[in-house]
Amino acid sequence: MENKEKESKDQLPMRSLLILYSYHHHNTEKIAKVFARVLDAEIKWPNEINPEELQEYDLIGFGSGIYSAKHDQSLLEFADGLLEVHNKKAFLFSTAGITGKSKAAKDHATLMEKLESKGYMIVDEFQCKGFNTNSFLRLFGGINKGRPNVDDLKNAENFAWKVKKNTIAQD
Ligand SMILES: Cc1cc2nc3c(=O)[nH]c(=O)nc-3n(C[C@H](O)[C@H](O)[C@H](O)COP(=O)(O)O)c2cc1C
Repeated sequence: MENKEKESKDQLPMRSLLILYSYHHHNTEKIAKVFARVLDAEIKWPNEINPEELQEYDLIGFGSGIYSAKHDQSLLEFADGLLEVHNKKAFLFSTAGITGKSKAAKDHATLMEKLESKGYMIVDEFQCKGFNTNSFLRLFGGINKGRPNVDDLKNAENFAWKVKKNTIAQD
C-alpha cells in the first residue's frame, strides 16, 4: 500500500516529537528527517525544549550519533531532567561507526535506562551506520562514506511506519 494511502486510512490523531542531537556529519539528522516526515513530527534539539512540553506528545523519539558508546551527553542530561510519566511511548535511534544488533542494544543502554527510570516505555530502536571521520579515521578518509545511504533511509522510513502503526494499534 502506498504511504499516502496508509496515512489517510490511519487518520492519526497522535502527536509525535523527535529530540535530536547530531553534529559530526549530520548523519542522525538525515534519519530524523525521514522519521519526521512519516510521523508528522517536530524535531527539537535538547536545548530547544523544556521537559514539561513533552506532556503534549504521545510518541517521542530520542536520537543522536553514538559518541564513546553512548548517545550524546546533551540527550542523556535531558533525560535526567525529565518528569516522571506513566508508560509514555518512546523510541531510540542513532547512527554509529560500527553497528549490529547487540552493538545497538549496548549503545542505547544508557539512554534507555534513564528513560525507563522516568516511566517511558521504549517501543522500538533504530540504528544504522554513519560516516565517521573521528580521530585517526580521518587520516584515511573515514569509514562508512555515504552512509546513511538510500537503503538506510528506506529502512528508516519503514521503521517509522511500523512504530506509527503499532502505536496507533495499542491506543
Ligand atoms: C567523538 C566521536 C566519538 C565516537 N564514538 C563512537 C563509538 O563509540 N562507537 C561508534 O560506533 N561510533 C562512534 N563514533 C562515530 C559516530 O557515531 C558516527 O559517525 C555517527 O554517525 C555520527 O552521527 P552525527 O553525524 O549525527 O553526529 C564517534 C564519532 C565521534 C565524532
